[in-house]
Formats: sequence, C-alpha cells, structure tokens
Amino acid sequence: MNRLAQLDHRYVWHPFTQMRDWLRREPIMIVEGRGAVVRDARGREYLDANASIWTNLHGHHHPKIDAAIRRQLGKIAHCSALGLANEPASRLAERLIKAVERGARSAERLQLWAPEPERITGGPGGSADDSQSPIADRQESVAGSQPPIATRRSPIANPQSAVRNPQLVKVFFSDDGSTALEVALKLAYEFAHRTKRTRQPRFLSLQGAYHGDTVGAVSLGHIDLFHRAYAGLLFKSEALMAPYCYRCPFNRAQPERADARDYRKCRWECVGNVEQRFARQRKKGSPYVAFVLEPLIQGAAGMIPQPTGWLRRVAEIARGHDASIIADEVMTGFGRTGQGNAECGTRSAERGTGNVESGPIASQRVLRSSDFGLRTSDLLFACHHEGVQPDFLCLAKGLTGGYLPMAATLTTRAVFDAFLGEYREFKTFFHGHSYTANPLGAAAALASLDLLATLASRRARRRLETALREELQSLWALPNVGDIRQVGLIAGVELVKDWRTREPFDLRERAGIRVCEAMAKRGVLTRSIGNVIVVMPPYCTTPAQVSRMVEALHQACEEVFGRSAA
Ligand SMILES: Cc1ncc(COP(=O)(O)O)c(C=O)c1O
Repeated sequence: MNRLAQLDHRYVWHPFTQMRDWLRREPIMIVEGRGAVVRDARGREYLDANASIWTNLHGHHHPKIDAAIRRQLGKIAHCSALGLANEPASRLAERLIKAVERGARSAERLQLWAPEPERITGGPGGSADDSQSPIADRQESVAGSQPPIATRRSPIANPQSAVRNPQLVKVFFSDDGSTALEVALKLAYEFAHRTKRTRQPRFLSLQGAYHGDTVGAVSLGHIDLFHRAYAGLLFKSEALMAPYCYRCPFNRAQPERADARDYRKCRWECVGNVEQRFARQRKKGSPYVAFVLEPLIQGAAGMIPQPTGWLRRVAEIARGHDASIIADEVMTGFGRTGQGNAECGTRSAERGTGNVESGPIASQRVLRSSDFGLRTSDLLFACHHEGVQPDFLCLAKGLTGGYLPMAATLTTRAVFDAFLGEYREFKTFFHGHSYTANPLGAAAALASLDLLATLASRRARRRLETALREELQSLWALPNVGDIRQVGLIAGVELVKDWRTREPFDLRERAGIRVCEAMAKRGVLTRSIGNVIVVMPPYCTTPAQVSRMVEALHQACEEVFGRSAA
C-alpha cells in the first residue's frame, strides 16, 4: 500500500464513513487537481463528478483564484475579526450584499417578486432604507395580530405576488455550512425573543432536511439515519412534508420515464399541508418563528427538487404567518441552480389533473427565471428564481469557489437593529469563531465572484446544464433508474429495484455505494446519498467530460444490477 495511504489508515477517521469498510481497501489518495480532473498518488486520473462534495465551482487549481490567494498570502494569512477588521472580508461583505441586490433586482425586473414596501409593519424583514429602523414599527405587530395573506399583498412590482421581500444588508462570517446555519438559528431565535416576546421560539424545517452537523443544525435536520442517535442532545424542531413528487403519497400518477415533477397528478396537497401546519401552530398560540429550507432543491435529503411554484407559494404562507425565512443556500448558491429548470413540475397541475383552483392558494401562473433565458444568468441564488428573498441567507461551500472553508449569513437591518444597544444592555450577539472573516478565504471568494460575473462563466454554465440534461436522458433505458432529477447544474439519479414499482433498495444493500465504487473504477468520482447518485460537476466541465461521467454511471449500473433493458 502506498505510504500516504498507510498514514491515512493508521491515523485518519473519515466523515460519514464506515471505517471498517474503509480500512479494507487502499484509499484513493488525491495529490493534485486541475479543472474537473483530480489525480491520485498512483498517477490515476478521475473526473470530479461531485465537485469535491458540492464545493468546487470553477475547477481545481484555477489560475485566478490561486493568484488571489497568493496575493493575499503576501500580505497576511489571518487576523482576528474580534476587535479588528480586514480588507478582503470588508470587500467581500459588500460584494455579497450587492450580488444579492442584483439578483433581487433582476427578479423584480422580470416581475418575479414584490419588494417589501417601506415601513411595512409586522415582518421580520428590514426596511429598504438603511437610515430607518423598522424596530418601532414592529412593536405594534406582535405575533397573532397579522392580517390574512390576501390583505397583506404588496401593491408593487408583481401583482401576482403576496411575498413581502426584505433587503439583506449585513453579513456575519463563519466557517462552514453548519456554522452559517447556527448563526441564522441563533439570530432568528433571539430576534423572536426580543421583538415578538416569543418565550419558546419554534422552528419548522422540511422532512429529510439536512443543514449540517453542529448541534443546532442537527436539531433542524430530519434524517433519522444521521440524527436519531443524538436526539437527546437536540432541541425540538418540526418537520414539514417535503415536495418529493417521485414518492409523494398525493401523487396519483403511475411511474413514467420522466422527471416525476412533470407527470405527477396532484392538487398541490403539499402546499395545503404547509398552510395547515402554520395555521394550527398559530391557533395553539405559539406560531413558528422561522421556516428553514433549501430553495429549489434539497440536497442531502436525496436531491429532491421542488415543482415550479412551490417555493413561492410556501414563502407566501410563511410570511402570512409572520415567520422568518431562513434560506440554506449552502449547496444551491452561486449559480448552482442554473437557469434551465424550465417548467419542471407545473405541467400536470395546470393540465387539469390537479386542482389548484380550489387548493389552498389561488392558482397562479408562477414564473421562474428560466422563462426568460440568458438575461437572468446573474441570478446566483436559488431563492431569486422564484422571486423570494429570505430574512437569512446562509452561504458556504461554493463561496470560496471550493478552495477554503468560509461561510456567510446575510440578514436584514431589522435583525441587526435588534442587537444594537448600549454595552451595558448586553444585547451583543455573543457568537464568533477564531477564523471568522479569514482574509485568505475572503480573497478566494472575491476571485470566485469575479469569475462568476464573466460572460465566459455564464456561457459555460449554460452549456454544462444543457449537456447534463441531454446526457442524462440515456439513463432512462436502465430498469433500475426510477427518477432523474435535475435542477440547473445539480442532478440526482434515484436507483430502485424496478422503475415500474418504484420499490427502493434497502440501504443495507449499499446499492448507491456499489454503483459509485464501479464508477470510480471507470475514472469518475462521486458519492451517493442512499440510493441516489449525485452528478454535480464543476462549472468548467466540458460536454465531453459530462458524457464520460454519465457513461460511467450507465456502465456502473449495468455492472452492479446486470444488463436488462427498461
Ligand atoms: C444544504 C446544506 N446545508 C448545510 C450543510 C453543512 O455544510 P458543512 O458541511 O460545510 O458544515 C450542507 C452540507 O452538505 C448542506 O448541503
């Protein structure tokens, strides 16, 4: 065994890994990478088909990001953000706020959303005007006194929308996705205490949710396999039905060889469910203070995409019940959700098989940014695709282009203001990490944002999204492929015993793991989530490389399950 591999075996404990299995074989020891290719210690090359666990955007060893880090290294690698400011972090905070503003403006231009009117009362969102504190307004609007959704409609921009969208004006830096969520959670909790006098703020998140591995983030999670063992350590949060069309109990359609969002037959019962949950909780006198969700697609839940319009509708409901929206864009941020998700999931409901008219919310033709072509490619954040601006936006993974651990939680002026006071009042947000606002990470992030803004990057992303969509079609020929779900540059392929029955593999059969091992033999690296194979390449991946990734998946399925046609 390679000397480095021996060291690993002797000393390293790997995350989310059964170490008994790990110790049975020589690990793939990565020593370098360039673009979408990584090379191991034995000189073998692999395509990085999960972008190094969903972090890498522009490829490995990118000259622009490398140079930015080197430049920063020539100045200083790290200094504390406790009591000091630093150059790249200050610039990055501005860039992030501006990027969100730009996305929001694009959505507004396309009439995808309605910004919050100035001095509207009752919402967790801040005022559009930096000089104006909405705190005083908020005092009149203690939970329970909110008017119903219809009467709270914003009069501007988009007559279709009842979503009141706040502006995000402040950035709190931390280290990774989990800590970005911890920050949002603590801020939302304390914000509810201070402004709504909520004694025990309650949080709602989605079934199958995964928001990280720190204890607060785990409390928001609902994956039994990961979370059950720690139940005693956690606070209680509630799980809301996720719109998992492929396995939705309300979907009356027989399986087809297509994305389940497109052939489903339902009446948007999942949205009705959301309305009921919020209403019930409010009736009990302890309304939810925040709804935590991944917009457009849930990642670790199994790449579960939301049908077009779901996000907008549930955001309207949450706002109507005065709950903050915490958008976890740790996976979806920075262009991952692309623009080409056109119309996925609207068809059946609007064909008349569903009955949205008599559903919980009036039927609307909900537009996604994908309806407007390349013009919208500056929508870097998934929530803007449906014109939703959250109160807390959590970013990590791709923030530094996949180079360094760094995260950011963006929030509103109202939340920020709730923590202002004289020192002796102790309203300070007592939270932070040693590496908060790390200058090297911030320098990498600035370079990554520069790259994302180039026409070349937009074109590459568009090309990649199309290539991925076209290549994935070949997998429908496999009887063990039940569903293929793509949102932009993210794809999940759900493996089943037989596509006609949707019968899942028992996790103990390790179907997903075995397929990934067979892909690795063919020079393609990815990880499964249970029975779902993830294909999420770096943006620099060429159509030919995408073709090799999907071909490896095809052949791996045939090796593991045998060669029969669907
Ligand atoms: C949506 C989402 N949120 C949070 C996290 C946690 O991020 P990290 O692993 O950087 O702590 C992840 C990680 O996969 C994620 O996918």
